[in-house]
Amino acid sequence: MLRGFSWRGRIHWFVATLFLFCLMFVIFLSGCAKKKESDKKITLHFVTWKPNIPEVWDEILGLFEKEYPDIRISREVGPHSSTAFHDMLTQKLKNKSKDVDVFLMDVIWPPEFASAGWAMPLDDLFPPYEQQKFLESTILANTYKGKIYGVPLFIDSGLLYYRKDLLQKYGFDVPRTWQQMVETARRIVSEEKKRGVEIYGYSGQFKQYEGLVCDMMEFILSNRGWIVDPKTQRVGIAESPAIEAVRFVRDEIIGGIAPRGVLTYQEPESLALFIQGKAVFHRNWPYAWKVSNNPEKSKIAEKVGIAKLPHFPGGRSYSTLGGWQVGISAYTAKKDAAWRFVKFLTSERVQKLIALGAGKAPTRKSLYNDPEILKANPQFAQMKEVFLSSYPRPRTPLYPAVSNVLQRYFSRAISDPSSDIEAEAKKASMEIERLLNLGVELETKQ
Ligand code: GLC
Repeated sequence: MLRGFSWRGRIHWFVATLFLFCLMFVIFLSGCAKKKESDKKITLHFVTWKPNIPEVWDEILGLFEKEYPDIRISREVGPHSSTAFHDMLTQKLKNKSKDVDVFLMDVIWPPEFASAGWAMPLDDLFPPYEQQKFLESTILANTYKGKIYGVPLFIDSGLLYYRKDLLQKYGFDVPRTWQQMVETARRIVSEEKKRGVEIYGYSGQFKQYEGLVCDMMEFILSNRGWIVDPKTQRVGIAESPAIEAVRFVRDEIIGGIAPRGVLTYQEPESLALFIQGKAVFHRNWPYAWKVSNNPEKSKIAEKVGIAKLPHFPGGRSYSTLGGWQVGISAYTAKKDAAWRFVKFLTSERVQKLIALGAGKAPTRKSLYNDPEILKANPQFAQMKEVFLSSYPRPRTPLYPAVSNVLQRYFSRAISDPSSDIEAEAKKASMEIERLLNLGVELETKQ
């Protein structure tokens, strides 16, 4: 083949081939090195809901990957609604899916996730002296039969938001009872109407989903009623305080001061109405303070007041305990990396970022003394007492089934003005009793 070449030509040809060969070898080696590097990276599958303020989560995950270059987070974003997110996540866990290592957990899920064997017990990683740094109710919510299954990320408690400017304008005090709230709302709405301003009295969460249970529980408890007594397991929804409270919501809230649209509202829609300046009163979790005071998003920035939720005469204010935890799948093969991620997410530093960026209330006690957080979120200091005393939903592994009965009952009872509340309540109460009699005991500790 080289017969036509001089010996010089042959040498050139030989050198060129050698060069090409070396070049290919170098490219091959660097490819291998790169592959090795990415092989070394652990990919963690993190299942989370659709956040209100996504930028904060992008920042947090970016920070984590920078500080832990050996771990890559693959995020799967589920629906915003707790109920819909529960369905998606539990489907994966039932299938022992490899696509879940770390997940967010609503405060009502740990007993279910623990007894189903989906969430890994974290006692060896999250010992009592670390747990003590968190608000007690949030630790209790994550504890089932003496073991801990999640690390609290933020706490939620129901609060009343109101239009400070309008209450002042018409000389009203902040209402203490639900009746005063309805009266105040009616007067302000009709006065504003005379001035050509269309505004509703109230916005809250009344769609058939988990949020409905939270809102209705606050009405019922504040009338000295109860859902399931944690000590006796007696179901209280067919008792008169609960019936009266549900009737009040049907007739005075849905059929009175709120737009009928609230029957389809979850948190985002109900908050949207408020920040457009279209509601005098609004029930929501602590994050709504930040959004409603952000002039880029809200027409009522600086005009918002915050208070404990009202109660019925003879009762007291109750606030539902909400909030989210971080759990690790019992089926993960990456426990060590998963724990590093959980520890990072629930650290003081990240909880502070979430408090400042998204207005969520921290679960770490120390952050309630942080001047920067309190400056950005004065509602945390003002409402700390409410956070500390918020009331848990029934603590049972069967909670999703109990909640499903409650959601259907409440929704039927409040959306039809001629509903037979007593009959519906009795039916639902019996269904819940049957569920609870399935033999799983409620945790008696509150
Ligand atoms: C909030 C609460 C959660 C509750 C949900 C209902 O996300 O933190 O506990 O179940 O709202 O919509």
